[in-house]
Amino acid sequence: MTNKSREQLYNFQKSTELFSRAAEVIPGGIYGHISPILMVPGLFPNYTYHAEGCRYTDVDGNEFIDYECAYGPMILGYKHPVVEEAAEAQRKLADCTNHPGEIMVELAEYMRDLIPVADWVFFAKNGGDMTTYATLTARAHTNRKKIITVRGHYHGIAPWCTAIGHGGITPEDHLNILTVEWNDIEGLRKVVKKYRGEIAGFIATPYHHPTFKEQVMPLPGYWQEVESICREEGIVLISDDVRAGFRLHMGGSNEYFGFKPDLICFSKAMGNGYAISACVGQKELMNAASKVFATGSFWFSAVPMAAALATLKELKRINAVEKMEKMGSMLMNGLKEIGNRYGLGITISGPYAIPFMHFTRDPNMYLSQIFCAEVSRRGSLLHPSHNWFLSAAHEEKDINETLNHAEEAMKVTKDYVDRKAVATF
Ligand SMILES: Cc1ncc(COP(=O)(O)O)c(C=O)c1O
Repeated sequence: MTNKSREQLYNFQKSTELFSRAAEVIPGGIYGHISPILMVPGLFPNYTYHAEGCRYTDVDGNEFIDYECAYGPMILGYKHPVVEEAAEAQRKLADCTNHPGEIMVELAEYMRDLIPVADWVFFAKNGGDMTTYATLTARAHTNRKKIITVRGHYHGIAPWCTAIGHGGITPEDHLNILTVEWNDIEGLRKVVKKYRGEIAGFIATPYHHPTFKEQVMPLPGYWQEVESICREEGIVLISDDVRAGFRLHMGGSNEYFGFKPDLICFSKAMGNGYAISACVGQKELMNAASKVFATGSFWFSAVPMAAALATLKELKRINAVEKMEKMGSMLMNGLKEIGNRYGLGITISGPYAIPFMHFTRDPNMYLSQIFCAEVSRRGSLLHPSHNWFLSAAHEEKDINETLNHAEEAMKVTKDYVDRKAVATF
């Protein structure tokens, strides 16, 4: 729908009221990465009512074409029939009991065969469970303490990877954490030289996706250099593929970028919304992996495992990676064309399946806030400060509809610029 008058634009009254109630009984109301404080208040939805395919409806009855995909987990479409059928069949048998189901072994075998690096697979619930587990496995394997990370990373909420300044984090939590810049091989060499013999692992995402900033792909040869440094120094190389996993390559995003880590962490998309994560690794690390103490009340639940097996098989069957790349390219090139037409330069960053967009003269991201809010009021969910996600459920008609929303939103954004109602540089 295009050319909506102001009266036809969505309103978010119930979302806003619910958030006020939540703020009284839930610390932060809605916390963490989905907190509404990252968006213009009152111009984005806060609560979901119903979801299906690539669309969802909020509690005010507004429908959105979704480009956040639950921040990654939705990859085949909400309520995908193949996944739901597998989950339901398992639910009828058993879910959370005293033992795992046979499905745990089937899923591990399937992932071992699917992912070239994987000789073994360990399951949990969240991505952060696995990034912490991977660093502990690296320490157990090398008998060393230090872990190298990349500045601006996100590996979850454990104290070792949460920035000092957040509640409860102490400098001691980071005693054995070293930091290098993304794409900086010389910086990595320096740190490795300084702490030779003390470094257990290097953990990084396959490409760099800091919040608020442009996404940065690896420079040619970067990962191959990292890999050879790690091999020479006996450092365990960990690929945190929690965000990108199964959107760039079914065998892990490292296959897309041409390197072989020792450990890979997956979560988000692997169960199409069911709570499950995995760490896979090479056989040399299996003994160390078995010595790490890691478990949880819900880690052996069988339903998410059945959902994950169905999700992975379906993604492969339909070649979802290719479809997401195609739909993402259509969306991003369409947005760029619209921006150019209105004289507002747009920078696209990251892979098409997990893209992000910045206005080129918008250092404080005001234009992004205005643009994404105006898109949201017309029926597409584009996040102003977090990268976006495509799914295999997005079709050309959905992208075209979003581009219509974007056309209207760009007009409004341009109007702000022309009236000098917002500073651009
Ligand atoms: C790259 C990366 N690693 C780890 C995590 C943590 O995953 P979870 O929120 O499931 O614990 C995330 C979550 O966004 C992520 O993007």
